Amino acid sequence: MKTGLRTRIEIIQGDITKLKVDAIVNAANSSLLGGGGVDGAIHRGAGPQLLEYCRRLNGCPTGEAKISPGFNLPAKYVIHTVGPVWRGGNNNEEKLLANCYINSLLIAVENRIRTIAFPAISTGVYGFPLESAANIALTESKKILDDNNMIDKIIFVCFDVYTLRVYEKLIESVLP
Ligand code: APR
Repeated sequence: MKTGLRTRIEIIQGDITKLKVDAIVNAANSSLLGGGGVDGAIHRGAGPQLLEYCRRLNGCPTGEAKISPGFNLPAKYVIHTVGPVWRGGNNNEEKLLANCYINSLLIAVENRIRTIAFPAISTGVYGFPLESAANIALTESKKILDDNNMIDKIIFVCFDVYTLRVYEKLIESVLP
């Protein structure tokens, strides 16, 4: 569905833990037992029940995703996905990052999630070049939105203004 894509993709600057959406996506590590960055913020916002729940998920391979309740967060669900660590670009990093968006969105569709927010996965501690990561995020999300109407809105939450500017520049080329 080509029409209306611009209304179904939003780019904002902010703290993803504050968003009252059906699901927020966590840039987790493969243990799913918390960490720093957005992972730490989400666990702080959700409270200790999230860690207890995630212990039973038995981790998550890079590029895949698992869902949990949001507990004390305003969001109903957290979709935990594990981005690739950037190792120079010859270790299938781009495909693995694309899989994070694809698998998170597939879980969203399966769980009848209609509004979902993503951080800039892998662009922090994991060192993935921001422009390339943002292009992958926008391109893969557009493909899923084109293919089905199950998701009403995807919000890309940029924590800093530099990230915001990159997403805003790239969306002009991804969504003509
Ligand atoms: N809301 C939105 N975005 C945030 C927030 C927040 N509250 N906090 C951080 N970010 C942004 C960062 O600024 C960056 O743009 O999320 C993006 C991803 O950065 P990281 O959180 O460092 O995630 P990532 O690069 O995928 O590294 C994952 O870091 O925290 C650990 O346990 C995590 O081992 C895993 C690794």
